[in-house]
Amino acid sequence: MRTDHFIRFERVDSVEEAERGLLARLHGELLRIDAVRPDVVRLQMSRGGSFDPKPTYAVCVDPLGATPDGPVAWRAERANSEGEDAWRLVTDELVVTLWLDPFRIDVHRTDGSVVLESVPDSEGRYWTYATLNDAWTTRRRIGRDDAVYGLGEKGGHHNRRGRDFTMWNTDVLNEHATAEFRAGLDASDPRSDMSSTEFDPYYVTIPFFYQRDAETGSAVGSFVDNGYRGEYEFSHDDEYRVTFHGGQWTEYLFAGPSMAGILERYTWLTGRASLPPIWALGYQQCRWHAYTQADVERIAKRYRDDEFPCDGIWLDIDYMDGYRVFTWDSARFPDPAGMLKGLANQGFRTISIVDPGVKHDPGYTVYDDGIEQDVFCRTEGGDTYIGQVWPGNTAFPDFATPEARSWWGALNAKHVESGLAGIWNDMNEPATGEIAPQAMLFDKGRAKHERYHNQYALLMAMGTIEGLRAARPEARTFILSRAGFAGIQRYAANWMGDNQARWDHLWVSMPMACGFGLSGQPFVGADIGGFQGDTNPELFLRWMQMGTLTPFCRNHSEIDNIDQYPWSFGPEVHDLAREAVRLRYRLMPYIYSAFVRASETGEPVQRPLVLDHQHDQAVVDIDDEYLFGRDLLVAPVTEQGQTSRTVYLPEGDWYDWHTGELHPGGQRITVETPLERIPLFARAGAAIPMWTEAPASTDGYRPETVELHVFDPVVDGRWESVLVEDDGLTVPTDKAVDGTAAHEVERLTTTVVVTRADGQVSVEHETSGPGYAGHARTRFDVVRHAA
Ligand code: NOJ
Repeated sequence: MRTDHFIRFERVDSVEEAERGLLARLHGELLRIDAVRPDVVRLQMSRGGSFDPKPTYAVCVDPLGATPDGPVAWRAERANSEGEDAWRLVTDELVVTLWLDPFRIDVHRTDGSVVLESVPDSEGRYWTYATLNDAWTTRRRIGRDDAVYGLGEKGGHHNRRGRDFTMWNTDVLNEHATAEFRAGLDASDPRSDMSSTEFDPYYVTIPFFYQRDAETGSAVGSFVDNGYRGEYEFSHDDEYRVTFHGGQWTEYLFAGPSMAGILERYTWLTGRASLPPIWALGYQQCRWHAYTQADVERIAKRYRDDEFPCDGIWLDIDYMDGYRVFTWDSARFPDPAGMLKGLANQGFRTISIVDPGVKHDPGYTVYDDGIEQDVFCRTEGGDTYIGQVWPGNTAFPDFATPEARSWWGALNAKHVESGLAGIWNDMNEPATGEIAPQAMLFDKGRAKHERYHNQYALLMAMGTIEGLRAARPEARTFILSRAGFAGIQRYAANWMGDNQARWDHLWVSMPMACGFGLSGQPFVGADIGGFQGDTNPELFLRWMQMGTLTPFCRNHSEIDNIDQYPWSFGPEVHDLAREAVRLRYRLMPYIYSAFVRASETGEPVQRPLVLDHQHDQAVVDIDDEYLFGRDLLVAPVTEQGQTSRTVYLPEGDWYDWHTGELHPGGQRITVETPLERIPLFARAGAAIPMWTEAPASTDGYRPETVELHVFDPVVDGRWESVLVEDDGLTVPTDKAVDGTAAHEVERLTTTVVVTRADGQVSVEHETSGPGYAGHARTRFDVVRHAA
């Protein structure tokens, strides 16, 4: 093999102390190692001798600015004893060793345990830049049984160890991409006959993962802030490799050892989900279908007539005039504003799809204006780049420029004036049909496609949010996005794209949602029932039962499929699906409080057991059950005709939600799965806030009583649960607290403390906060569940 295409970073030429750490020179490049927080360091390698101050739009704080832990104590040390020629950066929790010859970096916790250990390739290279294919590659040690989690939206099992992944936003389940993926595999590659749940790459790129040490259960984290195409190889025995094809190397390393702590720090850097409007947590009705206004009104009415709770009605591409974004087909929708008003009067919010592609159609005002404002992506020759999407020839906004984002924001602001409540962004990988996207340049032709490809959806959401906020500054925004990059959680929820109406796709939506949750994105859900192909009554019902216990809950399917409304499969499925949705609505105070926590701390709503039970070796590979919020464990039915299943219950004691039976944790049990329900357990010690009934929609629902369902602990101890109540719609604002100079967010926070001492259980609750407009609750009903 020829090696002269590699820049080998062999030896460090010089090292000096810098603002927060070390600055080294090697092979014409600069290397910075900075202490970001006591347990977070950043490694940066320049490209062409200088640093790109903003490699992507993922990080939203100044990493070297103020931290939640206060000033970061650090020192630099020269280690020059025998056999040791290195510099060290030492914080209260980390020691970074920069070896000078050969150049490599190792990171340890101050107790000596390993965070990162570099390993060389067969030619002794630790860190290379391949000029041939423009690729940075580093290699690090990993134990054979270590687990790998994260990387956002990926197929297959949630433990990523043993597989390789590509970071390149792709319209993955489109047949073309799937065939291309398979064609690229060697016949001996075990993935060439892989199950259809493992296609890669997917729609979303989040270059952030955890490595959990099999022996100690401790975790470390790595986030490479690079938007170019990348590869993560976890299939090697004793090392993993990370490659990025372009840009500079910017990596944040997290010492852990707790996964929750790593996630808190990762979401401090890349931001937390904005608090969603409560209606976005309700059940959503969607379908790709050429509806007329009368059809939409009929469906809405049916939900109300059936007393089937529903908050959202969605409009897919056929509401538009010839797929021209920001237009309505006036033959099918003669009075959009009247329709939206009518739906709103019945407590529905309406959300419409908005794809990035603008039909190439001189005379269509959005296209003409885009040309005039010069906001479309160009080709190398300076022409407008034209791809192929629904309307045929399509131009793409150059979201890398602030002008294009503002232009797009203003179009969205105008669009929602009709009464739309939210925006659904699709095809934003960007999907360009048969035309390869690489010819699409960004930043007025100055930036190669590769630099912004993975960030396209993030930048699109930034533009959309700008417009929505300007249009309605007081209202919380809602965007659903198919693609995304690290940080997308700040602006949008994600759904998992075009899944199939198959049982294994029902299953894979669990590890996928958990991968998202561990990667900073809590607001996720899969198309209930399955998108591609006809669903069937049993699959639909089981998916409804699970989907109502996931963060985003939307029924959606592809055009030309059989009807998939709750009433499409006869009265039994209808009634049982309604029971499932009613349970979600009754749990709304619990779900809402989990979202408040996610927006403040990054803690996911749907998560794998390993997040909360990291040291339990038994949960490392469990991805057919999950925690929904802190205190509910959901074990869906994932097979046709299943009448029972096993469930692993982690540490603690667990109440069967349906039968009230108590089970000690740390064991696997078998439970019945009759058609009426899926296994659901509540953690002993929890107080789960619930509405007393399931309203038709969250709209205007202001109950006077909230139930606190206390699940009596059976061992002595103290448990705390938190309920947050506010108006659910407006951006949280501060209000002066009477008689003091303090300001507090307009909400009520109730802390429920369940204590068991000498066998006696007591429940206390205390509410604080200035309250909010429209608050009607006057009492709590404590409902005790005892063994
Ligand atoms: C692809 C999306 O993934 C799907 O949800 C949508 O229905 C179709 N595009 C049509 O807009």
